[in-house]
Amino acid sequence: MSTTVKQRKETPSSFPSTGGHSLKPQEKKSSLSQILVIGLVATLVLAAVGGLGYYWSIQPKYFTPQELSYYNGENGAPIYLAVKGRVYDVSIAPKNYGPGGGYHGFAGKDATRAFLDLCFSEECLSKGLDDLTKEQMADIDHWASFYEDSPKYPFIGYVKK
Ligand code: HEM
Repeated sequence: MSTTVKQRKETPSSFPSTGGHSLKPQEKKSSLSQILVIGLVATLVLAAVGGLGYYWSIQPKYFTPQELSYYNGENGAPIYLAVKGRVYDVSIAPKNYGPGGGYHGFAGKDATRAFLDLCFSEECLSKGLDDLTKEQMADIDHWASFYEDSPKYPFIGYVKK
C-alpha cells in the first residue's frame, strides 16, 4: 500500500508580504491587532505621563525666600505671596499685586507682618511675629484665612525655613 504525502506547496503568498500583493484575511487580522496593541500601549503611556504631570502639578512646592522672590509679577513672572509660610498664587489680580499695584509689596515674599501696617522694609519684616499682641495676631489670621479660603488664589506650597 502506498502512502501519498501531501506536500503543501509554498506559494509566494504564504510568506509575509513584501509589498506588491494584497494581504490574506489572516494577515489583515494580525496587522489590525498589532495596530490595536500599539494604540493601547500609546494610550496607556500618554495617560501615565498625563497622570504624573497632574500629580506633580498639585503637589505642594517648597520655596526658599530667594526662589519665591522671582514670583513678583515682574517681566511676566507669575505673582505669588505668602502668609505665615503658606504660598498662594495671586497672579489673577495683577492690579493689586503686580508692578505698580497698591499691594505689590506682598508679591514674591512672605510679608506676613506687613498685613498689620503695610511696612515692607527689611527692618519691619525681620521683626517676625513673636512680639505681636493677641489682637494683632487675630488681624493676621484674618488675612491668612482670607487667602486660604479664597477660590481666586490657589494654595501652591510653603516657604522653606
Ligand atoms: C494695614 C492696612 C491694610 C492692609 C493690610 C490692606 C490689605 C489689602 C489687600 C491684601 C488687598 C487685596 C485683597 C484681594 O486680593 O482681593 C486690599 C484691597 C483693598 N484695599 Fe486694603 N489694606 C489695608 C488698608 C486699606 C485702607 C486704609 C484702604 C482705604 C483707604 C484700603 C483700600 C483697599 C481697597 C479699595 C481694596 C480693593 C482693591 C481692589 O480690589 O481693586 N486698604 N487691601
